[in-house]
Amino acid sequence: MRLIIQDTADDASRWTARHIADRIRRRQRESDAPFVLGLPTGSTPEGTYRELIRLHRAGELSFANVMTFNMDEYVGLPADHPQSYHAFMREHLFRHVDLRPEHTHLLDGAAPDPELECARYERLIAEAGGIDLFLGGVGEDGHLAFNEPFSSLCSRTRVKTLTEDTRRVNARFFGGDLDRVPRQALTVGVATVLEAREVVVLALGRRKARAVQQCVEGPYSHTSTVTALQTHPHGIVVCDDEAATELRVSTYRYFKEIEREQR
Ligand code: GLP
Repeated sequence: MRLIIQDTADDASRWTARHIADRIRRRQRESDAPFVLGLPTGSTPEGTYRELIRLHRAGELSFANVMTFNMDEYVGLPADHPQSYHAFMREHLFRHVDLRPEHTHLLDGAAPDPELECARYERLIAEAGGIDLFLGGVGEDGHLAFNEPFSSLCSRTRVKTLTEDTRRVNARFFGGDLDRVPRQALTVGVATVLEAREVVVLALGRRKARAVQQCVEGPYSHTSTVTALQTHPHGIVVCDDEAATELRVSTYRYFKEIEREQR
């Protein structure tokens, strides 16, 4: 695992965006195959999306040959619902860049048969040749996508019931009204994320310090599904200094030094 610790949230977001941009450009130089990018929602990726948009507007990055798959969607929210992750992605990334609409994929929260929808999504990812880079955020309790504590670390895309904690944290997107936050979500599984050729988890702020500590130093455990990243051959955690505050001093120094030497 690599751990990239940046001074501020802005620096960490910029690092992440530039890393993604480098990967996309490298693919464009080497092949005509689309770059397949897995994407999260939430507050965490907003700065990364802003930087990707800036690079695009500066003429330094094209998404014309990029295909995207989002991590999750609330059950019961149609794509045009303002709090749906479809709407979030349109607002924070898709409408600002040259992604082809038919190249963007999200789970359909309003699908009449959610199980069938999850199977369709797994099939689409496989047909795209798998995901090249999956970007993720992390919940305060260490959940990856909507794989709440005690989710199987071998899970695939499926319906999950959300914990009250997760619904409370996300109530801010629903005017602070817990009753408006859906009780279930469709989410890619832990194994779906780990099958990507590279996984980058971004964690910002002190609220995420415990999740970062678990992910980097904690035991591999379904109590914090982000710890599954420890088994990935190309896993990267990117965080700001605040999110690194629960790490041991020796861990912090190790990763700071090793990244300095690689520059
Ligand atoms: C939700 C999403 C996760 C996200 C997490 C953290 O639960 N399903 O993918 O990582 O929230 O959100 P935020 O980035 O807003 O802290």
